[in-house]
Amino acid sequence: MNRNKRIPAPALALALSLAAAAPAQAGDAEAGKTVFIKCGVCHTLEKDVSKVGPSLHGVFGRKAGTLSSYALYTDAMKNSGVVWDDDTIRQLVKQPRTFIEGTRMIFLGLKDDKQIDDLLAYLKTAQPPAE
Ligand code: HEC
Repeated sequence: MNRNKRIPAPALALALSLAAAAPAQAGDAEAGKTVFIKCGVCHTLEKDVSKVGPSLHGVFGRKAGTLSSYALYTDAMKNSGVVWDDDTIRQLVKQPRTFIEGTRMIFLGLKDDKQIDDLLAYLKTAQPPAE
C-alpha cells in the first residue's frame, strides 16, 4: 500500500487563493472594476479626487451631496436626504434621474443586478476602515 497523502501543489494554491477572496460579498470586485469603467468617465475612487462627479472614495455611509472637496453638487442632491449604501447606490445607478430628481448625474443606468452587485463589491475596495 502506498497512500499518497501529499496535496498536489496546484490544488493547494487554488484553495489558498479562494480562502483569500472575501467570502461575505455576493459581488465580484474584479468584475466590478470593469463595470466601473462606465462610472470612471466622471468618478474616481481616489480620496478627494473628483472629476465631473465627486470622488466615490468612502462613499458608503456618506450623506448625499456632502463631500466637502467637491463643489458642484446640485441642490437636488444636497437636499435629497439620501445616505449611500448598497440599496441607495443600486437605485441611483439604475435610474439616476428618477431616484434623485434634478440631479446632474447624466447616466443611462445599469440594468443588470449582477453587474451592480459586482460594482458595489468593487466600490467597497475603496472604503476606508470604519472609525
Ligand atoms: C456623466 C458623468 C457621470 C457618470 C457616467 C456617473 N456619474 Fe455619478 N455623479 C455624477 C455627477 C455630476 C454627480 C453629482 C450630481 C449632483 O450633484 O446632482 C454624481 C453623483 C454620484 C453619487 C453621489 C455621491 C455623493 O457624494 O453624494 C454617486 C454615489 C454616484 N454618482 C455613483 C455613480 C456610479 C456608481 C456610476 C457608474 C455606474 C456613476 N455615478 C456614473 C456624474 C456621473
